[in-house]
Amino acid sequence: MENEDFILMLPGPTDVPKQVLQAMSRRMINHRADEFRKLHESVLEKVRKVLGASSGDVYVITCSSTGGIECAVSNLINKDDRVLAFVNGLFAERMTVAAEYYSDHVTRVENELGTAVTVEEFRREVESRGKVDVALIVHNETSTGAFNPYVQEIADYCRRQGIALIVDGVTSIGGYPLELSSWGVTAFVGGTQKCLAAPPGLAIVYVSEEARERIRRNPKRPHYFDLVTHEEFMKRFETPFTPAITLFYGLDASLDYMLEMGLERWYAAHRQGSTAFYEALERMGLSVFPRYQFRSRTLIAARLPSGVQDTQLTKLMKEKYGVLIAGGMGKTRGLIIRIGNMGLVTPERVGRTVRALLRSLEELKVKTEAVDVDRIVEGAFSG
Ligand SMILES: Cc1ncc(COP(=O)(O)O)c(C=O)c1O
Repeated sequence: MENEDFILMLPGPTDVPKQVLQAMSRRMINHRADEFRKLHESVLEKVRKVLGASSGDVYVITCSSTGGIECAVSNLINKDDRVLAFVNGLFAERMTVAAEYYSDHVTRVENELGTAVTVEEFRREVESRGKVDVALIVHNETSTGAFNPYVQEIADYCRRQGIALIVDGVTSIGGYPLELSSWGVTAFVGGTQKCLAAPPGLAIVYVSEEARERIRRNPKRPHYFDLVTHEEFMKRFETPFTPAITLFYGLDASLDYMLEMGLERWYAAHRQGSTAFYEALERMGLSVFPRYQFRSRTLIAARLPSGVQDTQLTKLMKEKYGVLIAGGMGKTRGLIIRIGNMGLVTPERVGRTVRALLRSLEELKVKTEAVDVDRIVEGAFSG
């Protein structure tokens, strides 16, 4: 892109602070020596804070988030396990497909797009199936903008029932406070290139203490992702295979950036940014896609006004206003626009995006209501 003055308001990757780019220009180090071990230990200690992982194991693995999902699923699921997969969008669908490689007994439960499974529905589904060994849910379904606010209750129910709960938290980590150990989640996968404002290419995998035994018992663990091997190397803060050292530098710097700001403030910015987006969308007359109780603070999705194509709108916003947003994906392709409210969430970025959207819609001859962007943004960020 010729115009350097652009902002990434995509559902990932997101913009990263300058310090992160600088950190990634450092020279290479030996991954079998103390320099890397210290870096690795420092990253893990900070990731634990973000995950609320006072117990269990945390791994930062060189692969994209889908690799992290494959890691969790392949270690925790074996052929005879009865798996219950809640499918409310494309990422839930992908996790289900991954599970189908490892178990012959995967049952899908479809949830309406723009919603997520509630604890009551979850319980009902489990009870109607007799025995369930593993359940799969997505914390924040990025293809629809539906956040599941019931993960803590679902995890608690699973713990009592002896069900292993695997959560795709790729776009919730960093945007919402997490307390994985006390919630009792079995496995959780986080992405780096979303609300952590770090580069893509690493996946964060958390597994609980109870999961360790289950993983050891799995007779057919994967090779690259074998968590028993990873655990062995982790004893000296190493990884079994060569890690993406540059990305570890970047992640370490982003975590420093977040923690210096304070996690409370970081999460508050995500909440405030989403408040501004939703108010602005409603005032301009666009319809928010997810149902109210499931509205995500990290992925803002709105229906496309009639007569407008997503590609037309995203192209105009990018080329004329330097704001990159995305269209729908999977079943929401051609139906919605998606704005990433992730990572560096500031009044300036939110305001610029809303203004760009308004002007682009006007240019596409969509009738919008007048919106006082400054008032909405200021109001949201002072609340
Ligand atoms: C919820 C969710 N899960 C999984 C992924 C896959 O991530 P990656 O493209 O890094 O493999 C994404 C990416 O957008 C996501 O939003």
